[in-house]
Amino acid sequence: MRISVIGQGYVGTTMGVVLANAGHNVTGLDIDKKKIDALSKGELYFYEPGLEEMLQQQIKNRRISFTTNARKAVENSDTLFIAVGTPSHDNGNADLTYIKQAARMIGSFMNKEKLIVVKSTVPIGTTEKVKQWIASENQGDSTGKVVMNPEFLREGSALQDALYPDRIVIGSHCEEAAETLRKIYQSWSCPMLTTTPKAAEMIKYASNAFLATKISFINEMAKLCDTLGVDIHDVSKGIGLDERIGPHFLEAGLGYGGSCFPKDVKELLWTADANHNPLRILKEVESINHAQPRYLLDKLKNSLTTLKGKRVAVLGLAFKPHTDDTRESVAFPIIRQLLDEEAGVAVHDPVVHLSKDWLDKCVKQYGDPYRTVAGTDAVVICTNWPQYAELDWAKIREIVRQPLIFDGRNMLKAEQIQSLNFHYEGIGYP
Ligand code: UGA
Repeated sequence: MRISVIGQGYVGTTMGVVLANAGHNVTGLDIDKKKIDALSKGELYFYEPGLEEMLQQQIKNRRISFTTNARKAVENSDTLFIAVGTPSHDNGNADLTYIKQAARMIGSFMNKEKLIVVKSTVPIGTTEKVKQWIASENQGDSTGKVVMNPEFLREGSALQDALYPDRIVIGSHCEEAAETLRKIYQSWSCPMLTTTPKAAEMIKYASNAFLATKISFINEMAKLCDTLGVDIHDVSKGIGLDERIGPHFLEAGLGYGGSCFPKDVKELLWTADANHNPLRILKEVESINHAQPRYLLDKLKNSLTTLKGKRVAVLGLAFKPHTDDTRESVAFPIIRQLLDEEAGVAVHDPVVHLSKDWLDKCVKQYGDPYRTVAGTDAVVICTNWPQYAELDWAKIREIVRQPLIFDGRNMLKAEQIQSLNFHYEGIGYP
């Protein structure tokens, strides 16, 4: 099958590569020439384990190529995946500018009947609009069949998630179109669920909202555990063994960040309010999440009395490990607050480099975690990069000014760290 993928972000690039790996002939389209030039050379412009190797393999196999030429990408394909971004407006509502542009562009170059697959996360009812936007540009000559096919891959494990998803959801009013997409995915062995386009759109938002709810739920429990002297790890494990609850997304900490959960929760809240059906649970989920960095900073302030003049090391800038994405990363509100309270800040991340803006604000970044923590009054862990668990904490004990660790991801072994005479605090981890 000849497939074009419009939008070469995380989702579009990963999908293109795995579709090529499944034997399809893929063209990746983007308006950003820099991205296209890099991808054409087999270089990923973002950090995603394993993906670059498969990209290079598929370029070698001549199954994937990249272009900025929209006409070529549309005319030469039978199926088009739309994987452009849907950022938030200030009020939380999703901004559909890029989806609309992509749909109109498809419409203007449509030379025959095609299958259009909406991969982007779009508000309920958008797939129907995509159909209309396509039709508006080609005078209804051949509108194409439009289906909704939400993506569930995570950054940091995008390749594995795209190769082995838990399920594939196909939202379509047309059985023939759904069948074409099932054929495209024939080498995938997971369950496939066919629904209406609106239900598929809703499944995506409800999935992210539910996972965000699990995280805020466990963070609320963790705070109570702090008060009662209970270890949240035991609680997460104990409830997670119940098959109805499941073990995933029960890691207490600084809360969720990234480009998806915060944005999708906001959009769902906006849609619910606009339809006079406010989602009270989700409002709390959001406000609990928002308060998590403050909760850890209060612990830090209780120990240091004042932050003024203190030196604090922040380990981790990415919103989660194995990615260089810092969107909505909790590290930044924490750094901002530390600076506001006149603390000196040194940071480390294995892959993220601070922007000049932050460096101008006197935040120091070091490539070596030991240099980062040397001479500091407290260490705050914001991202659970596995290498932080492997650090020589006995050596760190010798080079810090004060032995205080605030583990915002509950990733270190408290007893081990305490045996080195550190004062250690996690979240729900007495
Ligand atoms: C999320 C979903 O997990 C994907 O299924 C979805 O496809 C994607 O959004 C999307 O909509 O595109 P992602 O944002 O890449 O994926 O990352 P997650 O692994 O879900 O983590 C999100 C945040 O939750 C991170 O900040 C992570 O540190 C935090 N988290 C996760 C916790 O605080 N506790 C947990 O137990 C799990």
